[in-house]
Amino acid sequence: MSNTIDKTIEFVKQKLEGAEAGHDWFHIERVWKLAKKIAVTENCNMEVVELSALLHDIADPKFHNGDETLALKISRDLLESLEVNEETIQQVLFIIKNISFKNRNEVPKDLPVELKIVQDADRIDAIGAIGIARTFNFGGFKNNLMYHPDIEPKLNMSKEEYKKSNGTTINHFYEKLLLLKDLMNTEEGKKIAEERHQFMLSFLDQFFKEWNVD
Ligand code: ADP
Ligand code: NI
Repeated sequence: MSNTIDKTIEFVKQKLEGAEAGHDWFHIERVWKLAKKIAVTENCNMEVVELSALLHDIADPKFHNGDETLALKISRDLLESLEVNEETIQQVLFIIKNISFKNRNEVPKDLPVELKIVQDADRIDAIGAIGIARTFNFGGFKNNLMYHPDIEPKLNMSKEEYKKSNGTTINHFYEKLLLLKDLMNTEEGKKIAEERHQFMLSFLDQFFKEWNVD
């Protein structure tokens, strides 16, 4: 078991070499640790949690021309080569397929607890100080504006609109980051998210204070 985890870690590190800083190995490591921390407060299958956390961004569609099947194929090939049993493989692939914020309107109800845990861990890494840093890094990577006073946030975007959105980085807070606290699935996740949410609110207050020089 831990051998499987170790080999998966090696695989992911190598695969994500050179990735954008918000979606690199260190994002995966933080999500993996957060997922384990939440998992000990829930009744769940730890191997499924760990493998899903490690593989959840192995081939993010937004860096692979929108291809949503590549991550599933890469993960299946790896897990089969490590002789992980078929039931575990299917559970892990289900999580990778359904974890994303942009798919939140289409995921089946009654989610497995392992998905809820990894989703909370991924969302926690999107908020707080790390979340702010990742978001500005991504905005810079895309050459988006930090902020524009005349561009309004777009709430309730469809999945297609969300993927194409070229909004400002500050708008991303209103379109996604500030919504995450209320989407937490687990009690432990909610607790961790609360503090990070408050930090983002203070950041935004300060940002606008400094922007509006008078
Ligand atoms: P998911 O993978 O859960 O669908 P995203 O890929 O949209 O979520 O977002 C992952 C992280 O990437 C966000 O939390 C944010 O830090 C960054 N990000 C994604 N889209 C944007 C954007 N339009 N502007 C700034 N940051 C973004
Ligand atoms: Ni992620």
